[in-house]
Amino acid sequence: MIPRDTVDKIIEAARVEEVIGEFITLKKRGANLLGLCPFHGEKTPSFTVSPVKGIYKCFGCGKAGHSVNFVMEHLSLSYPEALKWLAGKYGIEVIEKEITPEEKERLDERESMLIVMQYAARYFVDNMNNTDEGRSIGLGYFIERGLRPDIIQKFQIGYSLEDRRAFTNDAIKAGYSPKYLAKTGMSILSNTYVEGNEIQQADVFDRYAGRVMFPITDEGGRVVAFGGRTLSSEKKVAKYINSPETDIYHKSKVLYGLSLAKKSIQQKNVCYLVEGYMDVIAMHQAGIENVVASSGTSLTIEQIKAIHRFTTNIVVLYDGDEAGQKASERAIPLLLEEGMNVKLLMFPDNHDPDSYSRLVTAEEFAVYLEKNAQDFLIYKARKLSAETKNDPIKKATVIKDLVSNIALIPDTIIRSVYVKECSNIMEMEEQILQTEVNKLRRKAGDKNKRAEELEAEAQHAVEALIGPEEKEKKDTIRFEERELLRLMMNYGNILIKVDGENEDKTIHSFEMTLDEFIIMELCRDEIDFEDPIHQLIMDEFMHELSNERLPLLNYFVQHQNPDISTFAISNAQINYTLSDKWGRFGVFVIDEMNEVKRSAEHFLFSLKDKKLNTFILGLKEGLKNQEHDDIIKTQEKIMNLELNKKRINKLLGRIIIK
Ligand code: CTP
Ligand code: MN
Repeated sequence: MIPRDTVDKIIEAARVEEVIGEFITLKKRGANLLGLCPFHGEKTPSFTVSPVKGIYKCFGCGKAGHSVNFVMEHLSLSYPEALKWLAGKYGIEVIEKEITPEEKERLDERESMLIVMQYAARYFVDNMNNTDEGRSIGLGYFIERGLRPDIIQKFQIGYSLEDRRAFTNDAIKAGYSPKYLAKTGMSILSNTYVEGNEIQQADVFDRYAGRVMFPITDEGGRVVAFGGRTLSSEKKVAKYINSPETDIYHKSKVLYGLSLAKKSIQQKNVCYLVEGYMDVIAMHQAGIENVVASSGTSLTIEQIKAIHRFTTNIVVLYDGDEAGQKASERAIPLLLEEGMNVKLLMFPDNHDPDSYSRLVTAEEFAVYLEKNAQDFLIYKARKLSAETKNDPIKKATVIKDLVSNIALIPDTIIRSVYVKECSNIMEMEEQILQTEVNKLRRKAGDKNKRAEELEAEAQHAVEALIGPEEKEKKDTIRFEERELLRLMMNYGNILIKVDGENEDKTIHSFEMTLDEFIIMELCRDEIDFEDPIHQLIMDEFMHELSNERLPLLNYFVQHQNPDISTFAISNAQINYTLSDKWGRFGVFVIDEMNEVKRSAEHFLFSLKDKKLNTFILGLKEGLKNQEHDDIIKTQEKIMNLELNKKRINKLLGRIIIK
């Protein structure tokens, strides 16, 4: 159990923007931050974090919560696990009793597996540094490869002894149950037999023996698997043995090096993708930290999405050899389809990042990376163009290949930029390429629809700024009522400047809260709300304000009347703001926080306008059954009201929101 005051300390320290910012790149948008939602696939950011409110909300999939929820969800942790994770991040000491073997049993399975992996990682590191065999074989190998001690430590590299039972026996002695040793894939059980009611293991031995061990961590830095490299040059021996798929290790989702890379990926706004463990490690040694590898599988969509949360820019550094070519041929279409900007970087003379980084100085290496990354599609077009210079038939076939790549790009504008560039390079008419691209996209229609749906989703969320409900609801007065209440709940305590008239007709401005302003305006025209719940909430506001209290969202969220609390929850406001892309296209959304007064005025005036409309319509209706004198009176009334309406509309016209 974590003591209550420690829990409070953790929650206080864990600022939502900071915690989430560690996992996804967030860009400032007004008072909020915006990024790609980690919980559903999206290419246009609709995941919004509100530092002021301490909450996040995705306008695409609807997931919402505070920082602890986020860590729970994102790292698949239980509540106490998430708290502990955050405590670690913020250096808050969590004093729990030492766990006994019985408690160890009771911990849930995944937790137990993670504990085994943590033990294993330490065990292998210890082997490498503190046994003769480890030092001479394991450490010796890395020193010979030129790896610095700080880097060996950073990646927790270790060594598994040649003795096939060393790890398993020591782990069991230390109290780890064979069940979890097997479940994590660290040990192999064989010849199980039943004796009485018990399952007996005839044989338990290590999966890895006489290998150097690379721990593979999840995004939070916890060891979930190992890659074990043999040091024997015998062809028959598998070069790497990797952990099997387990409850804590899903190969297709994990990227080697991500936990150490994510900060740098965010800062540099680019991610280097390499093939091997050693490439990642060597790049760190050369001072480059924004690098990941797909670790033993070809790159998957899930891995790409994990990168996309931090950046849209990726540089593929695969080997020039056949395997590397093949790997990049598989990976690049997936990257393009995800909307990533893909660059390609090759090293001279079949070097890989590891060998090249050892050939040159760190500075030269960094410069090389900087200077030699080429846009993949442009590079490909140039290459194909050169290869088919004098062969029009061949040119026609390679163009199809190029076009099939371009057609994968989800963004229309980026796509057409490439069509233009590539048609120049290939000396082809732009229109021909464009037609081909369009054809392919139509063919792939169904698949692309998904992408377009997601874009539409984001658009929808923009409309959510105007009001959480659909547009048609705006036709009724209830829309303005709700918007005004929403503003009061979320921003009611903000002080705004209001102009008032002195007795001598001079204007002076004074401050009042937004709540007071809205109530004042409504009272002036004796406006009641039509919706009974809305009116109930307004009454509550007035009652509280008259007692000099400023009720905010929390007050209503926790209200005992479920109608009121439901209303409050569904109107909790985090603004949806748009990505840069939309800004560039001239779409601007106001930052409501700074614009509360204008928003309030807008909804007040449009409420009054609608009220007047209804009133005037009623009067006009009444005219039909009236006598002469009354008709004149009514018409006068109507004229006055129309004048009022004009005034209001003029005011309304001055306030441009949307
Ligand atoms: N790999 C694997 N199983 C193998 C061979 C390779 O899982 N039998 C994966 C590993 O993740 C490895 C990557 O593919 O890191 C790249 O392979 P390779 O270039 O052969 O290995 P390096 O890590 O570069 O190792 P080294 O430089 O020590 O040869
Ligand atoms: Mn290598």
